[in-house]
This record gives sequence, structure tokens and C-alpha cells, in this order.
Amino acid sequence: MKTLVIGTGGREHALALALSRDPSVTEVHAAPGNPGIGAFATLHAVDPMDPVAVADLAVRLGADLVVVGPEAPLVAGVADAVRERGISCFGPSAEAARLEGSKAFAKDIMGAAEVPTALARVCTTVEEAADALDAFGPPYVVKDDGLAAGKGVVVTEDRDAALAHAAACERVVIEEFLDGPEVSLFAITDGTTVYPLQPAQDFKRIFDGDAGPNTGGMGAYTPLPWAPDGLVADVLARVLQPTVDELARRGAVFSGLLYAGLALTSRGVKVIEFNARFGDPETQPLMALLDSPLGVLLKAAADGVLHEVAPPRWKAGTALAVVMASAGYPESSRNGDVISGVAEAETGGCDVIHAGTALVDGDLVTAGGRVLAVTAVGDDLADARAKAYAGVGAIRFDGAQFRTDIAAKAAAGEIKP
Ligand code: AMP
Ligand code: GLY
Repeated sequence: MKTLVIGTGGREHALALALSRDPSVTEVHAAPGNPGIGAFATLHAVDPMDPVAVADLAVRLGADLVVVGPEAPLVAGVADAVRERGISCFGPSAEAARLEGSKAFAKDIMGAAEVPTALARVCTTVEEAADALDAFGPPYVVKDDGLAAGKGVVVTEDRDAALAHAAACERVVIEEFLDGPEVSLFAITDGTTVYPLQPAQDFKRIFDGDAGPNTGGMGAYTPLPWAPDGLVADVLARVLQPTVDELARRGAVFSGLLYAGLALTSRGVKVIEFNARFGDPETQPLMALLDSPLGVLLKAAADGVLHEVAPPRWKAGTALAVVMASAGYPESSRNGDVISGVAEAETGGCDVIHAGTALVDGDLVTAGGRVLAVTAVGDDLADARAKAYAGVGAIRFDGAQFRTDIAAKAAAGEIKP
């Protein structure tokens, strides 16, 4: 089967790599892709936000399966445009992608489906926001209603800062603070059948010890040795299946990847957020351990026959990704710093997954905030950490930022759900 991956980041590199390892996949194309994907796939300079251009490319290539990576093209209707041309597409319709595109819509679906989540209020004025902050108390959680690339959420003890964020956004969701470790649980669905993947954890803050501002994600690992027994079955029954069913009931069938960001609170599992696409960087370690052919799974989901294929199987061991970001991230990012040592990290057994890189006059350089994710598989967390950080140690560029504590607490047995 000929496949086309839409997007430019680390998630797209990880997905494209997993597709290339599926024996039923004969060709991998990407638009626009990145230099990492270009090493094994054909890149096309097509704007991923342009539904007609993407659909035209899929037709021209004779693609059997299009996989849309990021949220913005999904919300812009790229999956709808591809399907209208009769081509299988993994990714929800614009309507169903509102589950990620609007936090208020997600809260409404969760309310109707009785999915456990934080109590929340939608606010459009500073007065409403101030009322809501005082109703819930600190720590304050203020979320921009629209898409904000993982940076629209402020969690703070500082009421003035919380109010300032609310004032800066058109519409915010203010909600109760959820305590407890976070889990990312993804599921592949065709709108009826729901196949959860292994749970993963990602690290949102820029600095060690979860300090500093939120980012798109600075590292991730899977599976979670500390996860309670029955977690996946519980989340499937109480969160994933009811959400998929509620969307179908409303005529907004969700087919694609449903991402549940969860908090394991003292009062049970609660949803922090939904996303309508694979998470980045969790996808990097997940794909490293996936033992099923990815193309077969995604095509079956896209075609509405997911029940006809076996649920995903996983290799033993642990996978871990450490993100290296450019100078200035997350407030800004610096382009053009020359990157060295990628081949050395790969020889050491890591997958170096590109996100914000470019080739300029034969040099690999930084071209974005999150530059790459060094991904390694090990027998356990300690082993995977050692391998991934050896890879990080081999890679150099000016201003490189990375966390040194990805999965350190879990490896030390310090996470208690
Ligand atoms: P989101 O974009 O909704 O995933 O939020 C980004 C991050 O903010 C999450 O991964 C959490 O660490 C934090 N966060 C969001 N909502 C809450 C909440 N209700 N309670 C505690 N932390 C939260
Ligand atoms: N890892 C967080 C996200 O993809 O939104």
C-alpha cells in the first residue's frame, strides 16, 4: 500500500518510520515532512493546511492511505477533503476534531457521556474569570479555548497571573486543579471499535523537576511500570468508548486517534484533555515498541473495519524519548544552529526522530523549537534512560536545551498513583 503522511514534526517522523517497517507498505510519502523523514521517504512541498492541495497530492500519488499527523490540518478539514476524493484517511473530520479544537466542546461531550473530568466554567469576560478563579481556588487552571500548540494552559498559584492569561484570551475554560500523576492513553478507533495503545507519560515543562513554562513536550516513555492494574480497561470503559459513542450519537463520528490526557487523582481517573491526533513526543517511544503493522491498523480504522484486524501488540521492554530543543524555546526558537553527532547517536542504537530540522548547504541545522527526539529501547527504564541519554550526549548544537530527568522518578520507583 502507498502511504502519505501529512505534517512536519517528530510525531510524523515516528509514524512514517513505523509505516516504512510495515511489510504491506510499499511506499511512504510525506508532505511536507522533514529531513529525517526524507532519509527514507519521498517528500512533497505541499502545504499541510491546504485541504485541496493535500487531496490533490493524494490523488496524484495514487495513495491508498493518508495519515494526518497534527491537529491544525484536521481542524481545517484536511481529512474530509481526502475522503471526499475516495481515498482512505486516518484522522477525524473537522467536526469530530473539535474535541481537541474547542475545550468547551470537549467538556460538553464529556458531560453528556458522563466521562470523569475536572469541574469547569467557560468564561468570556474578566469578571466571569475572576468569579471562576475564586470559586475553584488555587492552584488556578486557565485554558485558552482554542488550539494553542500545548502552550495555551496556565497552571499557577498566582491569581494575578491566572487573571492576566484569561484577559489575554477571547474565551477560556477555568477549572478545578487535578492532583496526581498524568498518563497519556491513546486509542485507535474507527468510530465504533476502540483499540487502546500502551499508556505513556510525557513531560510538559521545559526544565528539570517540572519547572518553567509548558511546552509541546520535552520527553516521554512507555509503558508505565507504576500504572495500576486494570488502568487501560478502566479508561476504555469509562472514557474512550463513551466519548466515541457520544460523538457518533451526535453524527460527528470520530475515526482516527483519540488521545486522552488523564490525571490519576485520589478520586479516580479524570480527563485533563482530549486530543484528536497522536501525541508528540509520546508517539516516538510508542512506535518504537509497536509490534503490529501500523499501516494495516490505520487503514482498517480509516475504512471503518477496525474489528477485522487484531488489536495492537507490543514488544517487551521500555522505550523512552528525550527531546532536544533550540535556544529560546518555548518563548521563541532559534534557527540555523548546526547539529552534529546524529549518526553517532544512531550507531549507538538510538532512533533520532527529527522535528524542527532543516538541511542548509548540506548541513543539518535547527529549524524550530523542538529540534529532535532521541529515542531508545531498553530492557527497563534505567536501561532505556542510559541508552537515550548516551545518544543525547553525542548530539551537539549551540543553545541545545533538554531535560536530564525524563522518567527519572519512575525509574526510582517514586511515582505513586
Ligand atoms: P492541556 O493542554 O489541557 O493538556 O494542559 C497542559 C498541562 O497543564 C497538562 O498536561 C497538565 O500538566 C496541566 N493541566 C491542565 N489541566 C489541569 C488541571 N485541571 N489540573 C492540573 N493540571 C492541569
Ligand atoms: N505530548 C503532548 C501533546 O502531544 O499534546
